Amino acid sequence: MTRLLQARRSDITEAAQMLRDGRLVAFGTETVYGLGGIATSAETVARIFAAKNRPVFNPLISHFPTIEAALHEVIASPISQRLAEAFWPGPLTLILPRHADSRICDLACAGLASVAVRVPAHPVARALLQEVGLPVAAPSANPSGRVSPTSAAHVLAGLEGRIDAVLDMGDCPVGLESTVLDLTGAHPVILRPGAITNDALERVIGPFARREAVPSPEENDAVLRSPGLMSSHYAPSLPLRLNAQDCHENEALLAFGTPFPDAPLIWNLSASGDMVEAAARLYAGLHFLDKTGCAQGLEGIAVMKMSEHGLGQAIMDRLKRAAAPRTRHPGHDASESLT
Ligand code: TXA
Ligand code: MG
Repeated sequence: MTRLLQARRSDITEAAQMLRDGRLVAFGTETVYGLGGIATSAETVARIFAAKNRPVFNPLISHFPTIEAALHEVIASPISQRLAEAFWPGPLTLILPRHADSRICDLACAGLASVAVRVPAHPVARALLQEVGLPVAAPSANPSGRVSPTSAAHVLAGLEGRIDAVLDMGDCPVGLESTVLDLTGAHPVILRPGAITNDALERVIGPFARREAVPSPEENDAVLRSPGLMSSHYAPSLPLRLNAQDCHENEALLAFGTPFPDAPLIWNLSASGDMVEAAARLYAGLHFLDKTGCAQGLEGIAVMKMSEHGLGQAIMDRLKRAAAPRTRHPGHDASESLT
């Protein structure tokens, strides 16, 4: 059974104790809900992979309440220090070499020599992490390959009965995952565009090669450098049609700006064309259109065109992956789409 806990002191303490006991507790962050488990226990981390049906070659992000706690587990560099001070707490994940004394287990890092660390901005998440006092591994709290959750209801819809508790922290204000920046090579490389835009990063660390920075979904599948970025991901069960110029009668509409007339079912990301609002409403929209559209017998989701600049880059990255043909990878026992 999955317990529903509230964002009050006594429940936060209980959630922290459950995590310390090796149980799985989903909790909200400013980006999306994470499926938490202590990163120091291989047994707990194995249960996270099992609950999500996530391929074990895809490493997890460890979460911390403070910059100091996060950088303690890695070999920090001047650039990582600058980025941490500029963006933490906040939606940036840094990939850094693991410290020899790091307590994070091999399985959480999928056996890599690097580790992903992040200090989330949500005050309840930070209070929880503070009380746990150990690194908390937390992938997005959805079955692998499916749409990420931005509310406790989304988490329960995907993982009820497979995890021990959900700490209900309301809707996630940002609504898109953190930007993942790899600092293990000669130059910083964005592995996943996210809530912190290229422009914001460049203001702190100067220009970096943007064109090479984000591998196309196909290139990424070939090299699997960031294994979580496989081309089919974030996928609802209904197929998506991107940059639609109209809406067919058997399609739901993910709108941006003024919706096409006559769509049988509409979710507007932002009537005023605001990208921050669109990011915050993206996953809730995909959950809603998928569930309600299926119930109404619709056969697809038409997606209106939007800009790929700034936050639009991360939004379009997620939509392209949600629209990609469902792929399977060897050794992964996925019944439907892979991640
Ligand atoms: O906003 C977020 O980042 C959310 C919240 C819960 O913090 N978490 C999240 O986790 O999105 P997840 O597991 O869904 O995505 C983590 C991404 C994956 O693409 C994974 O491949 C990549 O980070 N990653 C983790 N460790 C890595 C490493 N050592 N090297 C390269 N990529 C890594
Ligand atoms: Mg995810």
